[in-house]
Amino acid sequence: MLVLGIESSCDETAASLVESGRTIRANQVASQIPVHARYGGVVPELASRNHIVELLPVIRACVAEAGAALADIDGIAVAAGPGLVGSLLVGVEVAKGLAFGLGRPLVGVNHIEAHLMAPLIDYEGAEGLSGTPDFPFVGLIVSGGHTHLFRVEDVGRYALIGSTRDDAAGEASDTVAKMMGLPYPGGVQIDRAARRGDKAAIRFPRALPQRDSFDFSFSGLKTSVLTHLKGLDATPDPESQAFADICASFQEAVVDVLVTKTFRAARQHKVNHVVISGGVSANSRLRERALEVATSNGVAVHIPPIRLCTDNAAMIAGLGYHYLKGGSPGFDRFDLNASSSLPMGAR
Ligand code: KG4
Ligand code: ZN
Repeated sequence: MLVLGIESSCDETAASLVESGRTIRANQVASQIPVHARYGGVVPELASRNHIVELLPVIRACVAEAGAALADIDGIAVAAGPGLVGSLLVGVEVAKGLAFGLGRPLVGVNHIEAHLMAPLIDYEGAEGLSGTPDFPFVGLIVSGGHTHLFRVEDVGRYALIGSTRDDAAGEASDTVAKMMGLPYPGGVQIDRAARRGDKAAIRFPRALPQRDSFDFSFSGLKTSVLTHLKGLDATPDPESQAFADICASFQEAVVDVLVTKTFRAARQHKVNHVVISGGVSANSRLRERALEVATSNGVAVHIPPIRLCTDNAAMIAGLGYHYLKGGSPGFDRFDLNASSSLPMGAR
């Protein structure tokens, strides 16, 4: 079953064709980073307008990449939320139009759930990070808007173990990067600068350290970096050692909390498989630490390659397949709507 996935929840316009939920036939992403960079963050109105311009060419490029025709598509999956409603609506309406025109079933899927299930897709992994996870697994979703820990029994069966009480990990990284004068998107810039830095240079706080708490909090850490910067005569030069040390120490505080809580949850829930996904899982230190801790705990960790961690449509098509194959429950939904706060499960 060849499923077309469509993703337009934030600032990436993406389409992908995935065979039977596993094999990527084509994966196209048009990034809007240059559009938003001059404003220091995503401008929702501009994001929606750009999706309108980009989406049909991206879908055409995707079909061409697969050497397929629109008529070969067996079903369509679209991210219906959560995200920016104006942006989501562009994807949802295009998906409905295509489903109606081609006479194919349509399913709306949850963007976070798609990140969580991304490792079910067949991918070339590196350094022990590949391979499909076994159920049940503990899954950490870390992105610009979300930081959640789930226990996953199967597709569609999730229990929330913990989530952030304030900022998402990516949001906090982007804000700290902005404070330090780095361009948007900041997480990746901090990752780059941190490679030259000493992660033990400054001991930034780790919030909610209690062993029985699986919630996260990053706002105090953000304030702590701000206080540190205010205590200096000026923000250090981006090329300086002091600048790299702040980035490395901040990143270590984020990674430390994410990895500690995730593997503690796996231990407490007696599961041997851990999934880490979402944009922040592209972080090089998070990948390194997760692999170290997994190896010493005898747990398998699954982190997709970066193109499947950051926003993409292969994860939408991959998850959509599992709902479409059963013909349930979002089959042929032309009243499908976008929602900024969509619960998990098919629509
Ligand atoms: O999943 P995603 O692409 O979009 C959302 O659904 O939010 O995640 C975007 C987030 C941004 O906050 C970005 O700074 C962060 O992922 N990110 C990173 C890295 N690459 C992207 N954070 C840390 N290190 C990276 N290498
Ligand atoms: Zn995302």
